[in-house]
Amino acid sequence: MTDLKDRKPILVLGGTGKTGRRVLQRLRGRGLQTRAGSRFGDPPFDWGDESTWRPALQGVGSVYISYYPDLAIPGAPEAVRAFAETALGEGARRLVLLSGRGEEEAQRAEAAVQETGADLTIVRCAWFMQNFSEDYLLDAVRAGEVVLPAGDQREPFVDADDIADVAVAALTDDRHIGELYELTSPRLLTFREAVGQIAQVTGRRIDYVAVSVEEYAAAAAEHGVPPEFVGFLTYLFKDVLGQSAYVSDGVQRAVGRQPRDFEDFAGDVAATGVWERSTLAA
Ligand SMILES: NC(=O)c1ccc[n+]([C@@H]2O[C@H](COP(=O)([O-])OP(=O)(O)OC[C@H]3O[C@@H](n4cnc5c(N)ncnc54)[C@H](OP(=O)(O)O)[C@@H]3O)[C@@H](O)[C@H]2O)c1
Repeated sequence: MTDLKDRKPILVLGGTGKTGRRVLQRLRGRGLQTRAGSRFGDPPFDWGDESTWRPALQGVGSVYISYYPDLAIPGAPEAVRAFAETALGEGARRLVLLSGRGEEEAQRAEAAVQETGADLTIVRCAWFMQNFSEDYLLDAVRAGEVVLPAGDQREPFVDADDIADVAVAALTDDRHIGELYELTSPRLLTFREAVGQIAQVTGRRIDYVAVSVEEYAAAAAEHGVPPEFVGFLTYLFKDVLGQSAYVSDGVQRAVGRQPRDFEDFAGDVAATGVWERSTLAA
């Protein structure tokens, strides 16, 4: 077996995003050769510009595939299939695909990449905890009011650090080839309970306001959110949330330990101060 450090570089797509950044840190920490997939990388990688794919794949042996904006959108299966075929054509055999649970297009994308015959591991995830701290829910948490059409649906939010640990295991150990890992935390929470935990650890008042999907879409459009993003968010809350309200054992199976709980995530993030009310939001 080739020593890991002698292996070809690993291309990490979404290398500046919530999971890719963590995957890169871990791989680099182990002294492995890496390349960050980013529109601003050298060479750049852009899902929307196929001419960037080959240069980014030059000399690469493995790829962490994090599609942008989301595997659940129409056209995603075709894009990831085309990318996987290009990767195999350029000599990369080992692919790790980041996917989502309960999403028809995401499951089609998984099948499309499987059909290429790559040495594949699928990492199929619940909603990321980091949506509250690094993405579209951060401003709402800082402002003290999270308005969502999530009803009382329960979700086993997963920590991006767990996703990165599993992805790195898969990228560095061939025993994970052919595996499908469903990643969740150990506990189902409603969005109201998740926001309540953030309020508790920050010692701040943060209200959760439940609205209908229609009210949410109308308010988002009024605030200038692009129509395709409004459509995507309403699809997620209406059709995806609640379809997979169960916990799974993917983290345990892949890396042999329990996944992180939302409470631990919230405590760690609160200690960084990122959830403090910003001067802009005040
Ligand atoms: N968020 C969730 O709760 C969740 C749950 C399950 C599955 N997923 C899946 O995870 C994947 C990533 O979602 P995420 O929310 O975690 O996003 P993310 O990785 O945090 O998104 C940001 C990343 O996307 C890159 N990016 C943006 N536009 C790009 C483009 N045109 N071409 C190439 N890269 C581009 C950015 O790089 P640059 O700006 O540097 O180019 C950045 O690295 C999606 O496929 C989604 O289906 C997400």
